Amino acid sequence: MSQHTVNSTPEYPVSTDWWRDAVIYQVYPRSFADADGDGMGDLKGIRSRLPYLSDLGIDAVWLSPFYKSPQADAGYDVADYRTVDPMFGDLADAEHLIRDAHDLGLRIIIDVVPNHVSDQHAWFQQALGAGPGSPLRKRFHFQPGRGPNGERPPNDWESIFGGSAWSRVTEPDGSPGEWYLHLFAPEQPDLNWDHPAVDDEFRSTLRFWLDRGIDGFRVDVAHGLVKAQGLPDIGSRDQLKLLGNDTMPFFDQDGVHEIYRGWRTVLDEYGSERIFVAEAWTPTVERTALYVRPDELHQAFNFHYLSAYWDSDELKDVIDSSLQAMRPVGAPTTWVLSNHDVTRHTTRFANPAGLGTQIGAAGDARIGLRRARAAVLLMLALPGSAYLFQGEELGLPDVVSLPDEARQDPSFHRADGQDGLRDGCRVPLPWAVDGPSCGFGPAGSWLPQPADWGSLSVEAQQERADSTLELYRMALALRRQHPALGAGDRIEWLDAPQGVLAFRRSAGDGQELVCTANTTGEPVRIGRHGRIKLASTADAVQIGSNHAWLPSDSTIWWV
Ligand code: NOJ
Repeated sequence: MSQHTVNSTPEYPVSTDWWRDAVIYQVYPRSFADADGDGMGDLKGIRSRLPYLSDLGIDAVWLSPFYKSPQADAGYDVADYRTVDPMFGDLADAEHLIRDAHDLGLRIIIDVVPNHVSDQHAWFQQALGAGPGSPLRKRFHFQPGRGPNGERPPNDWESIFGGSAWSRVTEPDGSPGEWYLHLFAPEQPDLNWDHPAVDDEFRSTLRFWLDRGIDGFRVDVAHGLVKAQGLPDIGSRDQLKLLGNDTMPFFDQDGVHEIYRGWRTVLDEYGSERIFVAEAWTPTVERTALYVRPDELHQAFNFHYLSAYWDSDELKDVIDSSLQAMRPVGAPTTWVLSNHDVTRHTTRFANPAGLGTQIGAAGDARIGLRRARAAVLLMLALPGSAYLFQGEELGLPDVVSLPDEARQDPSFHRADGQDGLRDGCRVPLPWAVDGPSCGFGPAGSWLPQPADWGSLSVEAQQERADSTLELYRMALALRRQHPALGAGDRIEWLDAPQGVLAFRRSAGDGQELVCTANTTGEPVRIGRHGRIKLASTADAVQIGSNHAWLPSDSTIWWV
């Protein structure tokens, strides 16, 4: 590997806003903490655990949806964006949660779901009742079917969850009628963003929550709002394999950017500290960068990084291309290993490469955990903002043994879905060694926890020097002590043997930190880089006067 520096002066002035290097922790409300004992997490439960999050050393919490919802897609089917679902609490609970978080110095980011609503949303119910041709149907994509009796869907698009992306309605007079578009489940009709009422409604919703003090929004399916004119056929039988291809007529259309430029003006009325983060799956990091131009959103999840395997070449490529792609627009790069839609990285890395982000096999759990610990130290040494998914600080694996009847992911139950295994990362957290749901709540949990879950709990890991929880705490504390670590867009690669990544970062005040990651299964000899500040493994590291042996699958921070 040759030595070079990935850096240049951004074309836009870079400010020191908090979000540029923030570590943001995703809370999945159903599975974080259950205060009322119904087996489902809730806002009071989250509130009670805020001190834990503050101690962990994160900067902000992103909450997945807690709005009124029939839960056809675990809350990503919203029936009312300004009401808290009773299963999670009420508006006062949300306000208390925001206030308590702020008192602890934590910021709160909430989800906004603009691509689709629940089929129980008032607008969709009105559209159904109004019948064909009604203006109330224009807020969605209603179309007559093809074929002599309209019995075939209007085009060939497939739902991300499998099956056709169209469902046919029964008209108020009882006859088989029009079809409506749903890129996800039939219970999630897509909104028509060409209709001005849609944007007006979402701007009001943004204000509703901004007025309650939230610090930002994660924009669900940010790449999906605009569909190609005329809703053209794709002409392929294997569309799920095409996802991520920029010719898809329902994703990453150029028109989405105008929407976000408008939203940005709303947010900016509330000062410069509130942010948007885009969930935008795009074919390339360069396309992702378009969402974070200076007058659009602030951050976008780096799914290219999340999709990389524990492999030095792959990681180096995606680190370089991510930094390079963001530089011209002046946005921070983000890094993420896990979220509520993919198999936890502990389990992804326990399995062989090439299986993607949905894996139903446990693999070699010992190796998976070892690599996961190494992967987070690598991620936290990179410049930019990092996202953590609840439970990764405990090294939780995906639960691959869930019985079919327990699974609630809608895509599991639809034919040909690309990702029906998402329940595995959503199993409620273990807080305690014992108890009916390992401290998740006073009763059971909505997904069954494995028998050994308590041994991975916060209680079992805290203050145990070799635990994954303590590794996260130490790494996050060091990032706090050395803000330069997350700052800027500079990374200086150092020569390293095959399979090893080595780079230098400024740690501020004239100090430097070298991060070395050995992605191979064997110890590797490298030149010495000072003394060890933090290591992902407790294995003894043999250090000579000018060399060191990196343990297999490990990351070390050297100062
Ligand atoms: C992305 C969310 O992360 C996922 O959980 C959801 O199913 C889809 N968007 C649809 O809202």
